Amino acid sequence: MGQDQLEGDAEPELVPGRILVSAEQLAERVAQLGAEITADYSGRSPLLVGVLKGAFMFMSDLSRVIDLPVEFDFMAVSSYGHSTRSSGVVRIVKDLDLDLAGRDVILVEDIVDSGLTLNYLRRNLFARNPASLEVCALLVREDHSVDEDILRYEGFRIPADFVVGYGLDVDQRYRNLPDIRVVEAAPQVKVVEAS
Ligand code: IMP
Ligand code: MG
Repeated sequence: MGQDQLEGDAEPELVPGRILVSAEQLAERVAQLGAEITADYSGRSPLLVGVLKGAFMFMSDLSRVIDLPVEFDFMAVSSYGHSTRSSGVVRIVKDLDLDLAGRDVILVEDIVDSGLTLNYLRRNLFARNPASLEVCALLVREDHSVDEDILRYEGFRIPADFVVGYGLDVDQRYRNLPDIRVVEAAPQVKVVEAS
């Protein structure tokens, strides 16, 4: 069997399909979350901790609808390789610059899937003695396995489908889509030999 015969067995590319959450729905919900946070943290200066890369767009929009003197920091973790399944391992790729001691920290996440990343990050951040620590997640899977009390602010509950857009990627692509879309297999191009 020749090499070229194997090419047809390659996994189809995953591309954005139908819209799950539109740009309008995102803007409306983000505005509500910003208003809630503004009210809850009145008189304080919360420190927004964004989890890169997925949360960058959400955190950027969210911060603009919080009417408080917020500060920013970012950390990068890796829990996925380049597929759509969790590797089960969380690794800090870039740590925070700021000291969390005595701060009101809001951890900003793109999506809580299994909850593995969130559980790890909460333990890690609590160990740095913040005055308070709450979670703001744009998307939460219906079948997540974290304690419901942990999810103080959440945008949307979504089903199991893998999604991209508004910061979320598949193989580092489609983060710049203004809406959240379900990925699907790209249509296969069949090469038909002329007879
Ligand atoms: P967890 O540790 O299983 O909760 O996975 C959380 C991380 O997996 C998120 O921060 C995302 O980076 C990534 N992730 C999970 N589901 C999706 C998805 O549907 N699209 C893109 N990234 C996802
Ligand atoms: Mg990710």
